[in-house]
Amino acid sequence: PSVGAAPLLAATYVLDDSNGLGREFDGIGAVSGGGATSRLLVNYQEPYRSQILDYLFKPNFGASLHMLKVEIGGDAQSTDGTEPSHMHYENDENYFRGYEWWLMKEAKKRNPKIKLIGLPWAFPGWIGKGENWPYDYPDITAYYIVSWILGAKQYHDLDIDYIGIWNERAFSSKYIKVLRHFLDRLGLWNVGIIAADGDWNISNEMIVDPYLNDAIEIVGAHYPGTKTVQNAILTGKKLWSSEDYSTFNNDIGAGCWARILNQNYVNGNMTSTIAWNLVASYYEELPFGRCGLMTAQEPWSGHYKVESPIWITAHTTQFTQPGWSYLQVDGHLEGGGSFVALTDGLGNLSIIIETMSHNHSKCIRPPLPNFSVVPQRATFYLRGSFYMVETLQVWHSRLDFESGKSILFQQLNPLKVWKGRFSLDLNVDEVYTLTTLKTGWKCEFPEPPPPQPFPSNYRDDFNIRNPPFSEAPNFADQTGVFEYFVNASDPGDHVFTLRQVVVQRPITWVSDADQTISVIGNFKWVNMTVTCDIYIEKPREGGVFIAGRVDNGGIYVRRTKGVFFWVFADGSYRVTGDLAGEEILMKGLAGVRDNAWHTLTLNIQGNSASGLLNGYPLWENVTISKPGNGWAALGTRSFEFAQFDNFQVEAC
Ligand code: GAL
Ligand code: CA
Repeated sequence: PSVGAAPLLAATYVLDDSNGLGREFDGIGAVSGGGATSRLLVNYQEPYRSQILDYLFKPNFGASLHMLKVEIGGDAQSTDGTEPSHMHYENDENYFRGYEWWLMKEAKKRNPKIKLIGLPWAFPGWIGKGENWPYDYPDITAYYIVSWILGAKQYHDLDIDYIGIWNERAFSSKYIKVLRHFLDRLGLWNVGIIAADGDWNISNEMIVDPYLNDAIEIVGAHYPGTKTVQNAILTGKKLWSSEDYSTFNNDIGAGCWARILNQNYVNGNMTSTIAWNLVASYYEELPFGRCGLMTAQEPWSGHYKVESPIWITAHTTQFTQPGWSYLQVDGHLEGGGSFVALTDGLGNLSIIIETMSHNHSKCIRPPLPNFSVVPQRATFYLRGSFYMVETLQVWHSRLDFESGKSILFQQLNPLKVWKGRFSLDLNVDEVYTLTTLKTGWKCEFPEPPPPQPFPSNYRDDFNIRNPPFSEAPNFADQTGVFEYFVNASDPGDHVFTLRQVVVQRPITWVSDADQTISVIGNFKWVNMTVTCDIYIEKPREGGVFIAGRVDNGGIYVRRTKGVFFWVFADGSYRVTGDLAGEEILMKGLAGVRDNAWHTLTLNIQGNSASGLLNGYPLWENVTISKPGNGWAALGTRSFEFAQFDNFQVEAC
């Protein structure tokens, strides 16, 4: 060593199964939804769509996820959009809405052993009989949830493994017991309840209520900061980080993910970690843009990006399976960082080591207390049945924040184990997997097409008889749900349309708008002409709008601004600067009626806007100051039926 160089910190660690094993490992997963995070994925052309799915789900390939958690759509805003319910109304049942069924099937096709989890963020309004609360009628809520599980089996042959309560909202002990009872009565004994997808506090009730404790299989906490609490351990249940990550998917996001995948077990006894979200397939300017394990937000170009968190996932998922067990180890490295060791109980061993530094592994939440990581030599002693291991396969990642050229999931030469002993020099910001398994593989498809902006000339006539999905491509519903619709008896041009179908305010997860809205296009659009045929269905107070420069959505949908051109069933029109309709820029009479088709045109150029009705000027020279850019949109004045057809936007 050169003069003055500090000696390398060196320490030893023992891996031994002779006194039994640690907790059973349940898998690594990711969430689609909560909400609408896979919205744009479904409209990718082949082969790109299958490639993305392969990167996510195919075993020994990429992220090779062990679990997929999906939102049970509740017709309400759940972060980046709304997802449709299987029961919009009390007497309505349809198990072909949205894309979560499709996604679960695609995941199962690739990995028949993948575990499936369903969780509601919101519920249709009828569940609460008008109250914004899902627990007043626990039988109705349980019936609604159990229907979703039965529908999954009946219509898609999907077996749901776990079911949740209400994402990050209050739980009700009564409801949890009723739900367990419903499941058992229907023979769904194998469906485990996860509760309560929030903090650890449910464990305080579980330890004093044995019936509640019996009903629950998994205590699931969100963003636990790798820590659990004493009462959670006292429940005797499996502990999961049932939602975590939610960090921008660059190398810091990868660092966050590497650290929590190990440390959720090392510090918090958690045996599963589930990332929000699976794939960033929503307009990037919506809240939490690119907080997915990879990015696929351009179906129009086919461009997608396999981000570094995918390969960090592979370090664990390709070399473990649900049902394996952790070894009993402390898991902290003396120079900072952590390791876990897992076995299938049949002689296989996988060790995952991470040395993520503080500033390169911050997650979105909670705040990360300070710690330091230094280069170090780790010597491992394999004892018990692992004493016989002679070689280990080595997979390596190094996140490089200076050159930006990180090494991701690279196979190195196998490591010789000498009499149960080997040493490894660890640098900072590295991940190693050492494993007896030889099945690891880093798949790479050819580069997808380059990125492209959303087409500046776009139209949709919705003329499709058997659409593969209930929603039209690229429309991202932010309040309400817009579905393909057929007017079977229409004599004219409007047999196939797009219809807003949520007619009662849902039991919301956040503050949905009082209006419905679906956005589309390029957030950077400044000048544009939006044209659409509209059909108000609700007499008297009914109304619809088309809009441009729409500047917000997701959990912020209520404060959306833009240029909104409204027509109402009472014959009047308005131009407003906001979705709420409070900032009135112009109003007057248009003569529009309900239950008749009309064509609206909105033209925004520089700081001026004008509007046409059925091709004739209705208003003009309305001055626009803000916002300077945004999406196109359409929607309704309230939760009411309305239809749209021949949507068109020309932008520049
Ligand atoms: C979680 C929530 C997700 C998403 C995420 C964003 O609390 O469950 O749906 O909103 O936060 O960080
Ligand atoms: Ca049509």
